[in-house]
Amino acid sequence: MFDLKKIIRKNIDRMLPYSSARDEYKGQEGVFLDANENPYNAPFNRYPDPLQTAIKEKLGKIKHIEPDQIFLGNGSDEAIDLLMRAFCEPGNDSVVSISPSYGMYQVAADTNDVNFIKVPLNSDFSLNVRALKNAISETVKIVIICSPNNPTSNCFYSEDILDIAKGFDGLLVVDEAYIDFAPHKSLISELLDYPNLVILQTFSKAWGLAGIRLGVAYASKEIISVLNKIKYPYNVNVLTQNIALKALDKLHEKENWVKNILFQKSIMVEKLKAFDIVDHIYPSDANFLLVKFKFNNELFKYLIDNQIVTRDRSKVSLCEGCIRITIGNESENRILIEAISDFESDIDLNKN
Ligand SMILES: Cc1ncc(COP(=O)(O)O)c(C=O)c1O
Repeated sequence: MFDLKKIIRKNIDRMLPYSSARDEYKGQEGVFLDANENPYNAPFNRYPDPLQTAIKEKLGKIKHIEPDQIFLGNGSDEAIDLLMRAFCEPGNDSVVSISPSYGMYQVAADTNDVNFIKVPLNSDFSLNVRALKNAISETVKIVIICSPNNPTSNCFYSEDILDIAKGFDGLLVVDEAYIDFAPHKSLISELLDYPNLVILQTFSKAWGLAGIRLGVAYASKEIISVLNKIKYPYNVNVLTQNIALKALDKLHEKENWVKNILFQKSIMVEKLKAFDIVDHIYPSDANFLLVKFKFNNELFKYLIDNQIVTRDRSKVSLCEGCIRITIGNESENRILIEAISDFESDIDLNKN
């Protein structure tokens, strides 16, 4: 049986969180002489709601989850860092993740002096469930799986992901940053059955709000209250909260963007297929494509020289020769395709 008490770091369990005066008063109206704010320059003179109640209420309705099962942070990177800080003893505990995957997991582990164990994906980018389970030892407090995975762009089978949570005494964190682009369902609905599951999502991708820095973790009330206990008191600023609240009223806009991006992706796949220098386009459940090119280094440089910025993933395990391409708008995608076409006409294909 999963027991949060067994995995939370003892100092975190014992400590008292910072208490702000506004924790004790929930009203919007009043004479606020508690927080040493400046009375002028409303509304920015006031500290934001530390628990972002209004956003959680709206988001909870959309995601069919209780507001107290939601953590909001300065990007999902904040949640990743806090999870490691709360549950992994520096110099002793470990995190298991897949390879290749999102680089911040290792950065957060390294920052927190937490051992980071990488389990390679199979060569077809599927999850090696047995190897992941074998990597779990007593010091492993967190397993992080990114689905759809960055940079491989594929989703994993839900059954395979959840299989790892079963009988695991630590947390299974599933990063669903790209889930809105995938045909697969989010695992949020599984939270009831898996008390050790944490789902990460973000406003940075489908919602078109990378600039406001808002990431989300969904989990049991108990796990969320640990994250709230150790976060900076005002970790999500007023501007971000206001913009997120407006965005949540425009769900249809997000859905239209997703549809459009997926349509653009299908066009991009067709166009890329026609190039001789394209060796392989990996099936994508995200808003980007992982593409294996001949002359990938030369192409990457050529694109940069033409102010077209893609992501060179060729040094990443299992991604030799690959460039990761984000799906842009119609004109951005056209510019990219024209540049690849110009590059291909210039290059001597027999050179390779
Ligand atoms: C898998 C994955 N998770 C999280 C993030 C970052 O999300 P945020 O902008 O919410 O910190 C990214 C960004 O590229 C990502 O690829």
